[in-house]
Parts: sequence; C-alpha cells; structure tokens
Amino acid sequence: MIEISTSILTVEKDNATKTFYDLEVAGTDYYHIDVMDGKFVEKNTEKIMYEYANILKQISNIPMDVHLMVEDIKGNIDRYIPLNPNIITFHYEACKSDEEVIKFINYIKENNIKPAISIKPKTDIEKIKKFLPMLHMVLIMTVEPGKGGQKLIPETLDKVSKLKEYLEENNLDTYIEVDGGINKETIDKVKKAGIDIAVSGSGIISADNFKEAINKLK
Ligand code: DX5
Ligand code: ZN
Repeated sequence: MIEISTSILTVEKDNATKTFYDLEVAGTDYYHIDVMDGKFVEKNTEKIMYEYANILKQISNIPMDVHLMVEDIKGNIDRYIPLNPNIITFHYEACKSDEEVIKFINYIKENNIKPAISIKPKTDIEKIKKFLPMLHMVLIMTVEPGKGGQKLIPETLDKVSKLKEYLEENNLDTYIEVDGGINKETIDKVKKAGIDIAVSGSGIISADNFKEAINKLK
C-alpha cells in the first residue's frame, strides 16, 4: 500500500489547528509542507508554512515532509532542522553544481533527516541517477511547482515508470514520491507507474470527509 502525504498549502489560517488535527485522525501518513520563496517559484509561502510547521510540531507526531521550492536551500534547511522533519526535499534545478547537490544531501543526513531531491516535469531522470544511492527519496513533480489545484501532466508518469525500473535493476531502495494533481481520478495510473508516496493537496483538503478521501487514495 502507498503512503499519503497531505499538502497543507491550501489550509486556511482560521481553522488550521483543527484541520491538522482532523488530518491526523483521518490517517495521513505525513504532512507535506510546501515552502515557496517567491524566486524559485512565483508564490511566497515561507512565513505561513513555517508557522504551520511550528503548530504541527506542537500538536502532532505525524512526520513532516518538507518540500523546498526555494533558491536558498541551505538557509531553509537550517530553518527546518529544529522542527525535526522526517524528510527534506530540495530541487535539483535550484542547485548550482553536482557538488552542491551532494553537499546538501550530506548536510541533511548529518542532521538525522532523510534527504530527497525533486525534479520538475521537464527535467530528465538521467540528471539525478548518480545521486540515487545517497538519497532516501526522489520527488517527481507531476505538475509545474508553484501552486495547488493544477492538472497532472501525464508524461511525468513515464518518468516515474522509468525511474522505478532503474531502481529495481540496480537494487536500490530509494522511494518515489509524486506531487501535483493527484486525486481520486488520477490515482490509479499514478499507482500503476510505481510509487511509494503520493502527495495530495486539494484532493484531500477540499473533500468533505478527509478519512474517506485518504482511504480512497490508498
Ligand atoms: C505544487 C506543490 C504541491 C501542491 C499539491 O507546487 O508542491 O504540493 O500543493 O496540491 P494539489 O494536490 O492540489 O495539486
Ligand atoms: Zn509539494
């Protein structure tokens, strides 16, 4: 069975604490924290996501899955270390060199957090193959990063299948996560491509019943 990481990007501030609590009761496996800096992507969610992550740290033991869509990767890793997230994902496209990618992977690991790299829809998996043995997870974006509620780009699932095949051939146990446009309509083909964790935002947050929505995806 796959795991579900609920993106809290569209959670409203007024009833955030109650929503987080309801998500825990509904059985989310992770809280997915979408950190955007207004540079790597247009929107800026740095302040609100940091606020939400602090609330979560206080009220829940469900692991946090931090997705950094930022240029300043080091600064944001440092900000989230004290909150002890389970996974920190940064974007390959935001790194200046392969050496820098390795530096961030090691830095995240040294802080007892699981490192993951994300690639945008147009980035080939060839680019990240060399890092796979060092990584806990790869996050394949199934939409262009930047906002919730978009439509899944079908071609991105070919990348998932190819990556899955490569991991199996090479006996690697790196997880595959997908993010963007995942809901009850798209989940079947996403699963078929071979994933471990599915991020879902609007598909869960806008549902009347979180538990039903999460169970359906699983
Ligand atoms: C997109 C974010 C996603 C997004 C998911 O940049 O990384 O996590 O909020 O939301 P839905 O499921 O609505 O596409
Ligand atoms: Zn995300």
